[in-house]
Amino acid sequence: MAEKREFPHHMIKEIFEQPQGLHDTIAPRIALPEGQVQLNEVPIGREELRALNRINIVASGTSRHAGMVGQYMIQELGGIPADVDYASEFEYRNPMIGKGELTIVITQSGETADTGAAQREAKARGSRTVAISNVAGTTIAREADGVIYTLAGPEISIASTKAFTAQMAALFLFALHISQARETLAANLRENYIRELLELPAKLKILLECASQVERIATEFHKVDDFLFLGRAIHYPIAMDGALKLKEVSYVHAEGYPTGETKHGPNALIDENLPVVIIATRDAGNQGSVLRYEKSLGNIRGFKKQSSRVIALASEADQEVPRLADHTIVIPQASELLSPILEIVPLQLFAYYMAVKRGLDVDRPRNLVKSVTLE
Ligand code: F6R
Repeated sequence: MAEKREFPHHMIKEIFEQPQGLHDTIAPRIALPEGQVQLNEVPIGREELRALNRINIVASGTSRHAGMVGQYMIQELGGIPADVDYASEFEYRNPMIGKGELTIVITQSGETADTGAAQREAKARGSRTVAISNVAGTTIAREADGVIYTLAGPEISIASTKAFTAQMAALFLFALHISQARETLAANLRENYIRELLELPAKLKILLECASQVERIATEFHKVDDFLFLGRAIHYPIAMDGALKLKEVSYVHAEGYPTGETKHGPNALIDENLPVVIIATRDAGNQGSVLRYEKSLGNIRGFKKQSSRVIALASEADQEVPRLADHTIVIPQASELLSPILEIVPLQLFAYYMAVKRGLDVDRPRNLVKSVTLE
């Protein structure tokens, strides 16, 4: 049984273990000085990767949010269309998959019944499967053609934190691996990404210094019962996961929504009683990212006009967001595809401190189990 040592709860200990979990997941899979990803555990050869038509990703809860982030990574780096499904819904939509396709199943525990059932459905339809799992030798790992283990270490707290960041890192490695086989990314760009990946644990360690700021924000907001979490593009699944963490450990109603969708309905709800948590980071070297950031600035201005309190995540050196938002948490500079791995950390901390301030059993929220082994 993992010990909490100096931390009062497993959840906060596991949040602080993320730099180590990332390092252990990433470093052994990078070959230097060539700047190549080596995923020997994926038994799918270069020719098969080149011939792939589509990738399906199935998972549940937080692991599905990692899959949604992975969809952007795989499409952008590997140039393959990727679909993401709730494992529990997969079979109902008659997934028209088969040979020439690969199904990635993502699971911390390796024993989630819905995810295992979706994996069997994919196999029955002729798809190969690769599992991303944090626990060795589990049912889902055994039934997969190959397993990429996230090496985040045992996760005890029911809310998944360190497994999630390790899953996103594993998906990024896999996307680079595909790009090597399919020659979809110039060598210098791949080397830049690999350098950035190797620097990620140190950045995350610095980011964890925001814990006291986040605790102060939670002190101000802990009596609030409704929140809206917003993000665009690859940041939307992070908003979803921030909301999920808050729901499960603080019993606070929170919805994750794409920022651009607020004008299509939820805006009617936004006033002084509904705080908004918005991811408004930007990768200055990425045009699309800057455009999305500018749109999000417009959204924040609107929320302030509606008297909402705004908690924003913004990039280092950004002066605009801190002028508009009530609270700004600064995220270290990162490229668009890797920034989500950092952005989730303050949202995990927020859920943790909200639960503590509300006097709840953070590690064992009511009605939940660590591994959902019944469908
Ligand atoms: C959220 C959480 C759950 C799990 C989900 C899948 O913090 O822990 O949503 O992510 O039950 O579990 P695994 O990843 O074990 O398949």
